[in-house]
Formats: sequence, structure tokens, C-alpha cells
Amino acid sequence: MPAIILVGAQWGDEGKGKITDLLAAKADVVARWGGGDNAGHTVIVRGERFALHLIPSGVLHPDVECILGSGMVINPARLVEELDGLAIRGVDVSRVRVSSAAHLIMPWHIALDQAQEAARGGAKIGTTGRGIGPAYADKAARVGIRVGAMLDDAALIAAIRAHNPPAPDSDAIAQQYLKFAQILRPHIADTVLLLHQRLAAGKTILCEGAQGTLLDLDHGTYPFVTSSSPVAGGAFTGLGFGPKHVRRVIGVAKAYSTRVGAGPFPTELTDVTGDKLVEVGGEFGTTTGRRRRAGWLDAVALRYAMEVNGITELAVTKLDVLSALEEIQVCVAYRLRGRRILDMPTDAQALAECKPEYETFPGWMSDITQARTRAELPDKAQRYIEWMENEFGVPIHIISVGPERDQTIED
Ligand code: IMP
Repeated sequence: MPAIILVGAQWGDEGKGKITDLLAAKADVVARWGGGDNAGHTVIVRGERFALHLIPSGVLHPDVECILGSGMVINPARLVEELDGLAIRGVDVSRVRVSSAAHLIMPWHIALDQAQEAARGGAKIGTTGRGIGPAYADKAARVGIRVGAMLDDAALIAAIRAHNPPAPDSDAIAQQYLKFAQILRPHIADTVLLLHQRLAAGKTILCEGAQGTLLDLDHGTYPFVTSSSPVAGGAFTGLGFGPKHVRRVIGVAKAYSTRVGAGPFPTELTDVTGDKLVEVGGEFGTTTGRRRRAGWLDAVALRYAMEVNGITELAVTKLDVLSALEEIQVCVAYRLRGRRILDMPTDAQALAECKPEYETFPGWMSDITQARTRAELPDKAQRYIEWMENEFGVPIHIISVGPERDQTIED
């Protein structure tokens, strides 16, 4: 069972990029299954910062094959830019494969995403404006253009011209996309076939999730969600293999919570503690630069994520960010319409009405960025991690105590 699924257990930005980068050292293939350049994964290697949006974070390991899977939506301009940016820094990008079945983000998707958001006035979703929703809408309506169209110039031009309503500058768009096609052609592949070949050869596949469980189109806080399936199940549809290959489902969770964009967030802190989390945690989006909303860890929401994904272990990130706090709170239940509830309501309105009930933990108030084993953590930090293992009923094998690759406790 050589596949591992890495999934965001909160609202995205859990630090999946760093954990993927770590696990990729032991993987043969790293594959992304959904989303597009709305994602932003930051990896810091020996002080050098890499911000990746489309290409899996595994690309920083020279022997790892990287797959952009069928469930993704690809902005080719971005992909070309990202490939170039990595190549300039000496990264071999010939190992990057993009599925011919993934869908192309077209300029009209981006224009529509931004126009729809503007039209929503005060009721914005807070999308990244990258055309993600409209591209997935076209895919579901069966009028999208797939990456495979880039293998044939005539087919690509015909597909762009056939767009209905016709884009006013479709010939200019076609010219631009033909250029991208030339560059991307060597990377386009039947990635389902490729993955099955690797699985048959006993290779280890690391499936890298984007966004997070609570942004899932079906299982998140609809309509304040993205338009793909960031939950573990999305890996099967987005990559084209079945659950029998999966050994571990690793949920990545921050030691606190953040959310970017609109939508309910029961443990949000709008006070100085919230500001401190944003400031110490550097909580600004990799993709849009937007300030993230921050709050305490929400165990109710995380229990939901455990179930929806079938998480077998947790990786906890940014534990060091809590070091400056005298007290740490964790939401263990909600109060909703006079009742105490332990299960997260998925209806956005109901969730917005939930008031958190907290359990308080003493802070450790010391620098933990040098800890490399659990025993080197202060007792109070160890208790926090043990409480999480107990509460969620799974082990925690990875704890991140700083942004650098080596600022990690692994057992
Ligand atoms: P979209 O994916 O651009 O349509 O945005 C929909 C919602 O998902 C917005 O609230 C975004 O802020 C959020 N979102 C999309 N991608 C990410 C991500 O990678 N991290 C965190 N939030 C995201």
C-alpha cells in the first residue's frame, strides 16, 4: 500500500508545503489532485524561500517525480512562470508532469471570477480571483478545455474559438495559449497511466492536498468554499486510483486556526491575541498577500475533519507561534441556540451562530524552535500535543517548530 495522502485539516494554509517537502524525501512521486494556483505553498530550504502555487512541493527534491493531477485546473501562464522560476534557481523541472485531463483556466474564467466577486458587494466569498470557480463550473457543465487540447494546435484554436459566448479577443487568446502549449507540451502526460505504472513498481506516491477540509465544495462551509475537493476522497477522483493503495492519511493542522476569505469561523480572535498570532505566525497569504483571520484551535471542527478524511495521524505545525502566549485555549464544544453541541454543523449559518466553549492550557513561554525531539519540548508543550493525540485518537509523528526544513520534530 504505497500511497500516502496529505490533507489540510482546517481552512487551508496549515503548512502542508513544508510537510510535503519533508515527506517527499522518502517518496518517489508527489502528486497534487485538485485546485489550481489559488493554492500557495511555502517551503524554506537553507534560508531560501520557495513559493509554489501549482507545482507540488516535492519538486525541491531532485529525484522526485511531480504530477499535477487530472482534478486540477491549470492556468498555463502561471505554470510556465513557475517552471521558469524554478529552472532559473537550478531546479530540474523535467520531472514535472501535468495531466492531459486537467482543465485549463482561461482568461474569461479569471475575468468572471473577479466580476462575480465585485457583484456580490458585501456578500463576497473572498475568492483568490484566479478563475478557479468558473473553470470548475465549465468542467461540470462539460464545456471546459482540457490540457490535452494543447497537444494539437488546431484543436486548441478550435476549442478557444468555439467558446460560447465568444471571447472578444479569442484569436489573441489562441495565440497566447499556443505559445504556452509549445513550452508545456513535453510535460503533458496521461498521469493516471503513469501513476498506475509507478504503483505497480512499488513506488511511494505522496498525494499533496491543497486548501483544506473546511473549504471542500461538498464538506466545507458552503458557499464559503473553493470549487474542488480538498478532502482525502478528492485524491482518488483527482488522481484516478482507489483506496486500496493508501497506507496513511496524514491530516495537517496548525496548533491554532486561520482562515482567509469570508465565512464562519467560531474561534476567530479579533483582539490583540489574534493580532499576535497573525504577527508571530506571519499569517499573510502566499497567493494574495491577504491578512489571514486567526483564532484558537477548534477541536470540534478538527474532529469533523478527522472523520471526513479518515485521518490516521496528525502533523502539527507552527507550535512555536504559541510560545509567546501565557494561556492557550482550545474550543472543545459549541453552544448553538441554547444547546451544547460536540458535532460541527456544516450549515454555514448555523456554524456562524456557534459560540465556542474553551478549555484553557498554560502556555510554556519559552523558545521551542531548537527542539528536535519531543523530550526537548517544555512539559507544557508536550502536554498540549498529548492532549491532541488523546482528543483525536491518532498519533502525532510530525511537529513543526519553525519554518525551516530542519525545524521539525519527527518520530
Ligand atoms: P477560490 O478557491 O479562489 O475560489 O476561493 C474560495 C475560498 O477558498 C476563499 O475563501 C479563498 O480565500 C479560499 N482559498 C482558496 N485557496 C486557498 C488556499 O490555498 N489556502 C487558503 N484559503 C484558500
